[in-house]
Amino acid sequence: MNDLRTIFGGEEESLVTALLRVLESGHYILGSEVTAFESEWADFVGVRYCLGVASGSDALRLALTVLEVGPGDEVITVANAGGYTTQAILSLGAQPIFIDIDPETLLLDPDLIGSVVSHRTKALVVTHLYGNIVDMPAVMAACGSAGIPVIEDSAQAHGGAWDGKKAGAWGDISCFSFYPTKNLGAMGDAGAVCCNDPLIADKAHCLRQYGWQPKYSVRYPGGMNSRLDEIQAAILRTLLPRLAQFTTQRRTVAGIYRERIEIRREASLPRRPTDAYDVAHLFPVQHPERDRIRTELAQSGIQTDIHYPIPDHLQPGFIHQAKRWGLAAWSGLGALPHTEAACNTVLTLPCHPYLRLDMAEHVSQTLLRHW
Ligand SMILES: Cc1ncc(COP(=O)(O)O)c(C=O)c1O
Repeated sequence: MNDLRTIFGGEEESLVTALLRVLESGHYILGSEVTAFESEWADFVGVRYCLGVASGSDALRLALTVLEVGPGDEVITVANAGGYTTQAILSLGAQPIFIDIDPETLLLDPDLIGSVVSHRTKALVVTHLYGNIVDMPAVMAACGSAGIPVIEDSAQAHGGAWDGKKAGAWGDISCFSFYPTKNLGAMGDAGAVCCNDPLIADKAHCLRQYGWQPKYSVRYPGGMNSRLDEIQAAILRTLLPRLAQFTTQRRTVAGIYRERIEIRREASLPRRPTDAYDVAHLFPVQHPERDRIRTELAQSGIQTDIHYPIPDHLQPGFIHQAKRWGLAAWSGLGALPHTEAACNTVLTLPCHPYLRLDMAEHVSQTLLRHW
């Protein structure tokens, strides 16, 4: 599915130089590498502020904490995006409100937002899944008229854009993960929170370090220890100049898959809106006999994955946690038909910058033989 040695291996010398720079600096937490990466990433996304944190999951929790989400509040989101957002909402004692996805794009359906807004709605989290971008003008319009802050989970959409404006530059706050397999990946866990509002930035800045302002004085509740470390920041800075090239290579692989697979009329691929620039983070196909195909591909030596097999509203751990918090039970099987259908049919093909094009051809041909 991935070949991280190839990505990092191609940059050995510059990575070693970056690591030595950190080693010799004698400054390992919140130093000059983090500050420089924050400024470079803010420029890349097209926002005023970026704060490095320890992971994408922490970024989501921090963003919700900045908005003071807590018990009694509702947060609107989807249930097919891996559970990261749901986990963050539940960890704060708030109620996730799931809306169904658009069955063609497999992304949040902005038309459904209005139907679930209540006086308890505190925020909406939208995930740009698979590197595909949600219709952000529609999301911002629906949330703007209802006065709901928007958090973008852009972990899978580094550099993606809608109508030229990047994923992560639309919402009130945006969250990124730099998990090693992401389009820009660290050599460990790393994440970031981005925004344009100085008050949000200041709050996030305090909350990532115990809520302190100044040191040892807790100004905001809900603080955590979630700091991007200097080594990961130096690695991210080294790879950031290559991100555009990585994305082009991913898009070339995705292009081969699309061309070979789309010609089969019954082949089902998520639709990519024409206003969007997708970044081919993952390449999902859909088939009713997904499990059979997956087994047959594995027998031919082709690894695949499923993003994601269980929707959040059917995850036993989330249901258990919601009960412990005394949250309203959410409906079970059948509540989100498009979400459930997607989770039962999606299959992710290998798609990374160093997948050789003849391998992508081989994966396509093998897939079509078993389709
Ligand atoms: C869409 C999405 N959101 C959030 C996360 C969580 O990021 P992390 O693994 O850095 O905590 C991930 C991925 O891993 C993700 O794919």
